[in-house]
Amino acid sequence: MAKVLITETVLRDAHQSLAATRMTTEEMIPVLDAMDQVGYYSLEAWGGATFDSCLRFLHEDPWARLRTIKDHVKNTKLQMLFRGQNILGYRHYADDVVEYFVQKSIANGIDIIRIFDALNDARNLETAIKATIKEKGHVQAAISYTTSPFHTNEGFAQYAKQLEEMGANSICIKDMSGLLKPYEAYQLVKTIKNTVSIPVNLHCHYTAGLGSMTLLKAIEAGVDGVDTAISPLAMGTSHTPTESLVATLQGTPYDTGLDLAKLDVVAKHFNKIREDYLASGLIDPKVLKVDVNALRYQVPGGMLSNLISQLKMAGKSDKLDAVLEEVANVRADAGFPPLVTPTSQIVGTQAVNNVLFANEGRYARVTKEFKGLVRGEYGKCPAPISDDFKKKIIGDDEIIDYRPADKIAPEIDSLRQRVAPYSEQDEDLLSLALFEQVAIKYFDWRKQQKYKLDANADAENGIHAI
Ligand code: CO
Repeated sequence: MAKVLITETVLRDAHQSLAATRMTTEEMIPVLDAMDQVGYYSLEAWGGATFDSCLRFLHEDPWARLRTIKDHVKNTKLQMLFRGQNILGYRHYADDVVEYFVQKSIANGIDIIRIFDALNDARNLETAIKATIKEKGHVQAAISYTTSPFHTNEGFAQYAKQLEEMGANSICIKDMSGLLKPYEAYQLVKTIKNTVSIPVNLHCHYTAGLGSMTLLKAIEAGVDGVDTAISPLAMGTSHTPTESLVATLQGTPYDTGLDLAKLDVVAKHFNKIREDYLASGLIDPKVLKVDVNALRYQVPGGMLSNLISQLKMAGKSDKLDAVLEEVANVRADAGFPPLVTPTSQIVGTQAVNNVLFANEGRYARVTKEFKGLVRGEYGKCPAPISDDFKKKIIGDDEIIDYRPADKIAPEIDSLRQRVAPYSEQDEDLLSLALFEQVAIKYFDWRKQQKYKLDANADAENGIHAI
């Protein structure tokens, strides 16, 4: 039995899950060399929401963050999360943008790209997978895990097989909502391992308190690697504590080979960060507690809190149970999409509308996004959508049954013109491509900082001249 490989998520998913993705590069730098000494299989350190957060909230260039991390991390692979044709944004981008983004991610230090699609529509992964292979990166193709009458272990395994045939170097089971229960994980991992010959990783959140048990059963079923988070930023909506799992597996055939003393150096650093975040309110103690409702309602924790706040704003907090029931109905009507960004928001908002405007009839008020989902704008939903339902939601609008990105014209040329007034590096074009307004604001701020620095330097030189 080979040892279990550990992917440490503290630099990306742990603070994305617990602290609204607000960890700064400054907070990471002092611990990076120690992290590199641990012997992790990889560090998930970039992508997901970190790119948006750097530009929008932290006055940071996400590309500079990646280069800084790479400067310190010489021995451990760096990994990022990539939303297929959505890259790190919220819509489909043209193929030329996806290809260029992959190229620059790898050029700036990424080794492993974990690529997923909310609907598990393989066509939405095609371009990113090809581009990663071309740039000699490791493709970790991810399955968005969900439960429905339509989803089976065999179905997930077939999808894994398809991803393997498309060139994936490994598979990730991505349980973004913490729904995967230990014994189910055992069967799922067994089924996938029997179907593909590439390594399989499990990513599961701790939300419902199942995380460590689920990982352990997956390990017994032969999973090759798992995602964990160093203890100060583990549990709650984050991941299983790294040290607990390492200790559990010591002296067994699954031993990770990691040293608890080295992990303690890392933990000490993040303990301080945890205290700071709790003191500033960046970590709300609510996200640290076990939330079994995520399992009962089969919705991700973040989606549940969105629904609660939408209903509160409408003065209809008493309708929560009705909305949760309607989420299940809407999801069934729409072909059982996994609930993850952006489908969780689309299905949730439609369910709220159906309940709040029940007197006008169900689907009397259909959002633009829900029409898009039914039309196929986001790709193909897992189960067929009935013709009657399609007719009711989109009338005679065109159905998109081709790969959605096929009809998106190349975007790089126009981006090149738009970024020209701000550009200081090639990568700025990609920041602009994903978050145009936010990126421009950041570019303007960056320019101002430079003027300030120049002015300070001039002043100092002036003094020396005297
Ligand atoms: Co996650």
